[in-house]
Amino acid sequence: MEYIQAVKGMNDILPHDIGWWQKVEATAREVLETFGYREIRTPLVEKLELFARSIGESTDIVEKEMYAFPDRKGRWLTLRPEATASIVRAFIERNLQSDPLARKFYTLGPMFRHERPQKGRYRQFHQIDAEAFGIDDPMLDAEIMFMLRCFLEKLGIGGVKLHINSLGCRECRKPFRESLQAFLEERIAALCPDCARRSRVNPLRAFDCKVEQCREQMEEAPALLDFLCRDCAEHFEAVKRHLDRLETPYRIDPRMVRGLDYYMRTTFEVITDQLGAQNAVGGGGRYDGLMKDLGGPDLPGIGFAIGMERLILLLQQSQDGTLKTPEIFLASVGDDARDRCFLMVQRLRDRGVAAEMEYGNAGLKSQMRRADKLGARYVLILGQDEIQRNAAPLRDMIEKNQVEVPLATAVDFLTEFIRKHSTRNR
Ligand code: HAM
Repeated sequence: MEYIQAVKGMNDILPHDIGWWQKVEATAREVLETFGYREIRTPLVEKLELFARSIGESTDIVEKEMYAFPDRKGRWLTLRPEATASIVRAFIERNLQSDPLARKFYTLGPMFRHERPQKGRYRQFHQIDAEAFGIDDPMLDAEIMFMLRCFLEKLGIGGVKLHINSLGCRECRKPFRESLQAFLEERIAALCPDCARRSRVNPLRAFDCKVEQCREQMEEAPALLDFLCRDCAEHFEAVKRHLDRLETPYRIDPRMVRGLDYYMRTTFEVITDQLGAQNAVGGGGRYDGLMKDLGGPDLPGIGFAIGMERLILLLQQSQDGTLKTPEIFLASVGDDARDRCFLMVQRLRDRGVAAEMEYGNAGLKSQMRRADKLGARYVLILGQDEIQRNAAPLRDMIEKNQVEVPLATAVDFLTEFIRKHSTRNR
């Protein structure tokens, strides 16, 4: 019978890859929590309106990429395409403003966008997302980018570049918008139908159009940086100054607007040239008016998200696998020995030692082959003789030597031994 396949663009994360995910997740938690972020988990399904109002009606995400559906009562819901709007919603709805400790949040989890799948671009993908509310100090903008750098360095990812820009505030946008609209109007015949249509309602979107022809046109477009009001210009100068002091290199990219409408002032992206067309590993920025627009208090916000699949592709290109191997394998000959090994394996695991044995009645040779395949460095071999003399050999499969393990205290002995000799971080 034909088997049922997964939905296009949605991946299984298999055991032989999970080590990468666990490493990325653990490092993210460690770094984010060190910088004062606390985990929040919001639902995967939200009301459609939440994203239409925050990301923007005329963005690609909302117009083309959402998994939106009516529920049984006809209310429009959607799988979340990102986490920012959900976290802002939760902050407002759960009145987190009254909790002095709740200012910095992070979440890890799947997001959904109906894009054309290719390397580094999927329909279910995962983000590490961080958001900070209530702080408009440019120090925080620099701190967030510094934190991103620390995180990538901790993972050992090199060769990525930080691009920054400022999108100004509502005040500086007005004259800029007019100038950009005039520019687009002149070239309307050369723009794709989406850009031609959006040039009137949301001209900024023309900057992140993926159509080559539009990209070429936009190279000469006016840049928001030339329109910044005094406050926004000062804010941007301060962000750059703090980045310099934190020795965090960046490049100013005056045409980077990001694909979501809620940004104001600082925006940034982490770019790589190692993933083909999908060159953004992560991105974010300020969204000072969003909380108010979503019906909450008028608090500023800033955050970013990193695409975990893209991060892991980069890691896999540059590092060896982090597959966990058992630290010790227990091989046995005979039923009595097998029973004893079974107990020992469970007790060792209970103490945190990654121990393995083979199930079923496998011969010694095939057990040794299995130990070798799993990459276990130490193998204990237990047979009738060993039971009778109350001691069994523990072989070091690399050094090719062995020590005797007293059976009466085998679990203590092995736990201590592995603790001393294991190369794994504990
Ligand atoms: P975004 O730029 O849309 O920003 O997504 C952030 C990252 O998610 C991208 O740089 C990319 O690595 C990853 N990503 C996006 N779409 C896909 C996809 N289809 N397949 C694989 N990876 C993908 C946001 O989502 C904002 N919420 C970030 C933010 C947080 N801004 C402020 N706070």
